[in-house]
Amino acid sequence: MRIAVIGCGFVGLVTGASYAALSHEVICVDKDERKIARLLQGEIPIHEPVLQELVIRNMQTGTLSFTTHLEMAVRMSEIIILAVGTPSLADGETNLSDMEQAVGDIALCMNGPKTIITKTTVPVGTNHKLQSMLSSLTDEVSIVVSMPEFLREGSAIRDMLYPDRIVIGTDRPESVEDIIDLHRPLTSNIIITDIRSAEMMKYASNAFLATKISFINEIANVCEKVGADVTQVAEGMGYDHRIGPSCLQAGIGYGGSCFTNDTQALIQIAGSVNYESKLLKSVIDVNREQRRIIVQKLVQLFGQLQGRTIAVWGLAFKPNTDEIWNSPAIDVIRELIALGAAVRACDPLALPNFRKHYDHERVVWCKDALDAACEAEAICLLTDWPEFGGYDLARLQQVMKQPVLIDGRNMYKSSQLDRSDFIYFSIGRPA
Ligand code: UGA
Repeated sequence: MRIAVIGCGFVGLVTGASYAALSHEVICVDKDERKIARLLQGEIPIHEPVLQELVIRNMQTGTLSFTTHLEMAVRMSEIIILAVGTPSLADGETNLSDMEQAVGDIALCMNGPKTIITKTTVPVGTNHKLQSMLSSLTDEVSIVVSMPEFLREGSAIRDMLYPDRIVIGTDRPESVEDIIDLHRPLTSNIIITDIRSAEMMKYASNAFLATKISFINEIANVCEKVGADVTQVAEGMGYDHRIGPSCLQAGIGYGGSCFTNDTQALIQIAGSVNYESKLLKSVIDVNREQRRIIVQKLVQLFGQLQGRTIAVWGLAFKPNTDEIWNSPAIDVIRELIALGAAVRACDPLALPNFRKHYDHERVVWCKDALDAACEAEAICLLTDWPEFGGYDLARLQQVMKQPVLIDGRNMYKSSQLDRSDFIYFSIGRPA
């Protein structure tokens, strides 16, 4: 099938490269000429494992190409996938202007009926608005379908090619055969539903996962006070198939744009129909408070942080990405600085990105974890990059002023600590 993907951000590139890998003929469009020029050279503007290899391979086999010419891409395609950005406004509402602009531009180029699939997360009712907009601008009969993505940064290609479910939200369930064909080699639950339910499914899924994380973090805080171990508790809970093990890793809370924006957007959507989501407001509050625990533990230990040097391991909101949006590290570093500490920070990928946005004279940017630990009086482990979990503590102790580790992601096991003099704190586990 011939597919045009509009928008070459994270969702557009992963979607385009994956459909190309399924042997469809994909053309990805973006207004940004520099981005397209780089993509045509095989340079990927985001860090996502496997993506670059997939893009290059599919460009070589001829199933994937890139362009700034929307009209050409629309006219040669039967399926158009909308993957343009929808940033959040200050009040949690979603900014749809790029999406509306894209649909307006597409309408002007139509040369026959097409299926228009929205992949971007959009508030309930948006796809119907886009459908009416399209109908008012062009006589070509096209259908708008909501197909929310469930892609995690860092494992997006895997999530795309081995999905838990494929959701097809449409007002015309009788005409989804081409969309099912699009996914033919994939074995997955295909859910055909109405448009509003598909739109809601995305928000509800992310909000539920965020709720699970805030829930286990609350349990962790109670575990700490009653002397239980949250990792054991979560393991036991996760074996119950009604609960499941995912998103039960206690720590300093979720970051990134998706859980943050989607919980806020869902509160806003509910508010617009006069429903107050008390639960989701608490999820956000618990998450905000959770990231303060790191500095609280340091203050408990040292009394005050003025003049102390603290190492920060991890700036990305999660491993395998350089994404720093709403990363807990932002708040932790700000608080450390506000309390008079000096920071030595490192991250295997996200350091340049973080430094660009949050440079400060009291932060030294370090090449690796050992370098960050030099002369530090404590290490705060904020992102669960695998390499942070396996450090030789004896070696660390040699370079530090004091052997203190505040493990915000519960990466260390007691067996690793047994033979060391480290003062160790984690989240929801006995000290
Ligand atoms: C999330 C969802 O998992 C995807 O299904 C969804 O498609 C995506 O948002 C989106 O809306 O586009 P993502 O934000 O990339 O994906 O990352 P996750 O792996 O879900 O992690 C989010 C945050 O939660 C990270 O900061 C992570 O450290 C934290 N987390 C995750 C925990 O604190 N505990 C856990 O048990 C799991």
